[in-house]
Amino acid sequence: MQKRELLLKGALLPGGRRADILIAEGRVVHVGAGMMVEETVDCTGLLCLPGAVDMHVHMRGGKQAYKEDWRTGSMSALAGGVTTVVDQPNTVPPLTTAGVFAARVREAASACLCNFGVNAAVTPAADLEELWKAGALAFGETFASPSSYGDAVAMEDLRSLMDRIAALGAPMTVHAEEILPGDDDSLSAHDTLRPASGERKMVEKIGAMRPQSLSLHFCHLSSTASIDAARGSVEVTPHHLFLSRERFGPTDARGKVNPPLRTEHERKSLWSHWDSIDVIASDHAPHTLAEKSGDYSAAPPGIPGVETMMPLLVAEAYRGTITLESLLEKTVYAPARILGISAPGFRKGCRADFALYPKEASPIKAEHLHSKAGWTPYEGMDAAFPVIVFIGGNIAFQKEEYAARRGAWLPGHGYICSGDTYVHADTAHL
Ligand code: DOR
Ligand code: ZN
Repeated sequence: MQKRELLLKGALLPGGRRADILIAEGRVVHVGAGMMVEETVDCTGLLCLPGAVDMHVHMRGGKQAYKEDWRTGSMSALAGGVTTVVDQPNTVPPLTTAGVFAARVREAASACLCNFGVNAAVTPAADLEELWKAGALAFGETFASPSSYGDAVAMEDLRSLMDRIAALGAPMTVHAEEILPGDDDSLSAHDTLRPASGERKMVEKIGAMRPQSLSLHFCHLSSTASIDAARGSVEVTPHHLFLSRERFGPTDARGKVNPPLRTEHERKSLWSHWDSIDVIASDHAPHTLAEKSGDYSAAPPGIPGVETMMPLLVAEAYRGTITLESLLEKTVYAPARILGISAPGFRKGCRADFALYPKEASPIKAEHLHSKAGWTPYEGMDAAFPVIVFIGGNIAFQKEEYAARRGAWLPGHGYICSGDTYVHADTAHL
């Protein structure tokens, strides 16, 4: 059988060089010039970046499919240059047993248009060892404090859970916050009751409890002090980098998220810690506008963002404040390393997941986005959205068109093939 080959012609690479990328059987064969193959895509004037690995999304689905489902969530991911998403386990019901976990993978495999991993829940009752065998990519986010649809794990229980996860050799991710008593009736109260100082304290406490061998990852840290205190890899979200609570009306629940948006001052100083951030992940947490527009106190926390993450950050790189190389490290290579999956990239043999971006940014408009949430807090901000996205050398998204092909499931290293049919054939060579 003849090999399927594709040539991305004349693409701009992050270092500024213009080159042709030869892909065969879904993998990069050569980056150079002067090659000829039958199937080519003209990339003149477009920046070519590896597809992002967003290691923190909430795809909803199931009973919460009115907020988002695997199809719309993955459409949103692809339109934003994200080719791999990692779903969090605070679903309804939470992913605490191998049976519920397998049903979740089946739901994803039937609808998800990009590659995906699924994390397992961490609670004292969760069957961690079976979840690892069922294919969990990582454990968490572990709720060291309660958040939407996630019950808190008591500190007394956390240490033994950490030991069990370390013994499996699995990565663990943690949502660390401290919650003070009081009326959460405004964005500033939210910031006060889930303070940055409490986040730092929890990050310190959890870091101190960490067994030596555990790969520990701190989700969505919202302040420089927490970043400095972290003994583990550090994740920051686009909303903490691009938004502050002062940008919203005092009780505008669209700005309500855990951990809370901080002050403009704190937001700016997060950028000064760019080099200390390991991972940028979206914490895509879609809730409908109706849910976010009602009574502030009753509104669920969370901000949709899988589609706008890369476009906002690529525009930031165009402004010259960050380098494209550092952006790729935080959105492609580091998350893949932490999760133990192969990253797309330009080297021979890398998975050919790529997104082609225009050289100019334009203002974000909610009506152009694909999440069921139907709103964005980034309206009007500059962003560069990809025009073509490839997964494994196939066009997955181009000019509002999506290929019918489903993404592949990326199980964790503990996976023992159960013979279930939801295992996508592509998984074998990821
Ligand atoms: O604001 C949040 N929303 N923080 C979380 O940790 C969970 C998320 C959600 O699932 O909606
Ligand atoms: Zn969280």
